[in-house]
Amino acid sequence: GQFWHVSDLHLDPTYHITDDHTKVCSSSNGANASNPGPFGDFLCDSPYQLILSAFKYMKDSEQQASFMIWTGDSPPHVPVGELSTEIVINVIGNMTSTIRSFFPDLQVFPALGNHDYWPQDQLPVSANEVYNAVANFWTPWLTDDAVSTFKKGGFYTQLFQSNASSQPLRIISLNTNLYYSPNHVTLNITDPANQLAWLESTLEISLQKQEKVYVIGHVPVGYLPFARNTTAIREYYNERLVKIFRKYSGVIAGQFFGHTHRDSIMILLDERENPINSLFVAPAVTPVKSVFQKESNNPGIRLYQYDPFHYNLLDLWQFYLNLTDANMKNESDWKLEYILTKAYDIEDLKPENLYEMAKQFAIPHSKLFQQYYNNFIVSYNKSIVCEGDCKTSQICAMQYLDHSSYTDCIQRGKYIGHHF
Ligand SMILES: *[C@@H]1O[C@H](CO)[C@@H](O)[C@H](O)[C@H]1NC(C)=O
Ligand SMILES: *[C@@H]1O[C@H](CO)[C@@H](O)[C@H](O)[C@H]1NC(C)=O
Ligand SMILES: *[C@@H]1O[C@H](CO)[C@@H](O)[C@H](O)[C@H]1NC(C)=O
Ligand SMILES: *[C@@H]1O[C@H](CO)[C@@H](O)[C@H](O)[C@H]1NC(C)=O
Ligand SMILES: *[C@@H]1O[C@H](CO)[C@@H](O)[C@H](O)[C@H]1NC(C)=O
Ligand SMILES: *[C@@H]1O[C@H](CO)[C@@H](O)[C@H](O)[C@H]1NC(C)=O
Ligand SMILES: *[C@@H]1O[C@H](CO)[C@@H](O)[C@H](O)[C@H]1NC(C)=O
Ligand SMILES: *[C@@H]1O[C@H](CO)[C@@H](O)[C@H](O)[C@H]1NC(C)=O
Ligand SMILES: [Zn+2]
Ligand SMILES: [Zn+2]
Repeated sequence: GQFWHVSDLHLDPTYHITDDHTKVCSSSNGANASNPGPFGDFLCDSPYQLILSAFKYMKDSEQQASFMIWTGDSPPHVPVGELSTEIVINVIGNMTSTIRSFFPDLQVFPALGNHDYWPQDQLPVSANEVYNAVANFWTPWLTDDAVSTFKKGGFYTQLFQSNASSQPLRIISLNTNLYYSPNHVTLNITDPANQLAWLESTLEISLQKQEKVYVIGHVPVGYLPFARNTTAIREYYNERLVKIFRKYSGVIAGQFFGHTHRDSIMILLDERENPINSLFVAPAVTPVKSVFQKESNNPGIRLYQYDPFHYNLLDLWQFYLNLTDANMKNESDWKLEYILTKAYDIEDLKPENLYEMAKQFAIPHSKLFQQYYNNFIVSYNKSIVCEGDCKTSQICAMQYLDHSSYTDCIQRGKYIGHHF
């Protein structure tokens, strides 16, 4: 079986080509767009045309996918005053209708992002206008139970029945935005919306029923690969989640996130450093970066292959749009960027194999790691290399998701100097 993963669409409805480059898109926040064309600009969020081109490519590819996961962030990166609850709801509604217009019969499992609320990041721990409106948009995809859980906390669980297996796959869509550091609403709350307790009891039931689970969410667990000593969610919640994921790693067959806009892999290790879970962070469709950032990402979408009997992950095909080229030619030529097992020479996406791969990456001057880094930025610029501190952060974030093992890894990196 196969399934699609799209993330971080970030539609900017104001995007338009005009001579004054500060006025191309609100999301450039007053900066001159760098090289604006019909499919976007690296200083702007997605024009609608870019988003249409992504879904059109997926549809025209005629890949047989049994479902799609969509890990959030639909509105643009603009100042709080330029949005409102109404605008945010409209943008999420627009993206939902757009997906349904391309794939009217496809099962989609969505998750909320930190931008899918107004004011951004402040997702609440109880029922509100946004969860309610979004739940209504998603009723064609979700069961009544899922809709009802979602309305209360922005998360849900639902079964997917594969046509090959008698055992269904359980999807758990988490609202990890409740744990996101800039969310002030949840400061000092031990278990926002009781999601952690709900997650544990859901996984416990799965364990008893011998189900397999895919966990999806927007903000990932673990450490940011491009920053030192920084988790995406608050450390306290990160430690709790890692503990739960370790305890139930036997039922979790994969974890899928977005939010960083980059393409990265994490391997969850148990206390004895055995690899027990594979985690994937999908790159964004939006190519946006701020003027202060050196690197961005080309727009990306991906397709996973899984064993329809046991739901083990077999492979991942990453597709991308060369934005510069698309704008130059006025044509959206989406292409395969890499096939994971071929790019890194491994058999499948089992945690053991990804862990071996990560160890290969750690070897000094590893060509495979350069390939990984090029994929991390979705082929944004092949001349950019990641060495020294940059590589240490990447390598440690890949393998160590909790504070103590991550800190040890960084210390080892420092001690050995240019080890990585
Ligand atoms: C979605 O937004 C785009 C860009 O603003 C607009 O052209 C399109 O008509 C909207 N579609 C729906 C279904 O709202
Ligand atoms: C944008 O570009 C114009 C023309 O090159 C220049 O005059 C202007 O100062 C730039 N604005 C910003 C905010 O960089
Ligand atoms: C199961 O569904 C896939 C598409 O999702 C299809 O390619 C395959 O033929 C189906 N298999 C059976 C046994 O129906
Ligand atoms: C959270 O706890 C800290 C330390 O106990 C306290 O200073 C802060 O005011 C609390 N914040 C909220 C929003 O309750
Ligand atoms: C990393 O950050 C945590 C708090 O977020 C802090 O407790 C710890 O000392 C830091 N470690 C290093 C090596 O900077
Ligand atoms: C993207 O397209 C530009 C312009 O055609 C080209 O210079 C660049 O090498 C391409 N990048 C990749 C990764 O193919
Ligand atoms: C780009 O292509 C579209 C049709 O695909 C056409 O309508 C439009 O005029 C073209 N734009 C330019 C600048 O050539
Ligand atoms: C690509 O990166 C190299 C090395 O950092 C830099 O010199 C070059 O200007 C970059 N190219 C583009 C198109 O940004
Ligand atoms: Zn985002
Ligand atoms: Zn985000």
